[in-house]
Amino acid sequence: MRKNIVAGNWKMNTTVAEGLELAKAVVAQSKDLGENVSLVVAPPFTHLVSVAEALKGSKVSLSAQNCADKASGAYTGEVSVDMLVSANCTYTILGHSERREYYGETDAKLVEKVKLALAANLSVIFCVGENLEQREAGKHFDVVKEQVANVLFNFTAEELSKIVIAYEPVWAIGTGKTATAEQAQEIHAFIRSVVAEKFGAEVADNMTILYGGSCKPSNAKELFACPDIDGGLIGGAALKAEDFIAIAKSF
Ligand code: 13P
Repeated sequence: MRKNIVAGNWKMNTTVAEGLELAKAVVAQSKDLGENVSLVVAPPFTHLVSVAEALKGSKVSLSAQNCADKASGAYTGEVSVDMLVSANCTYTILGHSERREYYGETDAKLVEKVKLALAANLSVIFCVGENLEQREAGKHFDVVKEQVANVLFNFTAEELSKIVIAYEPVWAIGTGKTATAEQAQEIHAFIRSVVAEKFGAEVADNMTILYGGSCKPSNAKELFACPDIDGGLIGGAALKAEDFIAIAKSF
């Protein structure tokens, strides 16, 4: 049985104090959450140590939003996987479209990052998704397949068990525009078939695939009811504990 996950990507939002308050609210409100869903929060790097403290003893896991593509050394401004582990992270998001688009994150760099994360025993939330132009040209299946193949096909079936895929159509991120449940289910099933083709049906069946892109309490239920959607990677709505928990309760 694959895991259902609702993960909150806080992006570049909140001060340390605000983030701590948000984490505490998430912990408090997650107490009556069922066993059928796991929660993850991904605050900015500066917040990790104090948020980790707030999450202690709770069911909420800590994720980074990125990591360096090098293990250590003279790489000013970068944060290594060992640093993340020492800050009590158990996950890192990698390959978010904002990193690909604004910070030149390439598939080759992502292979290095995933390698380092897995070697440090971090689970990875690996993001894929097409932009509007690609969707309108009917290229979304090809784009997503290439993103999965270029990076994840470099790993073994066993390594894949530590990886979660997040499908995030760029045109739905922060736009208020959500993929319809049909559009999301269609491409999630396709991603699962791409994984199955390379790694076999069992690995694909066990792979958690999250939807991201204007997911909120009002549409989460319909999205999560789809057979190949195993939760969400939530941006804006993760900045309010009530909304984030309401989404998690949509299973
Ligand atoms: P929004 O939920 O704000 O659209 O962001 C989605 C996202 O990019 C999560 O990583």
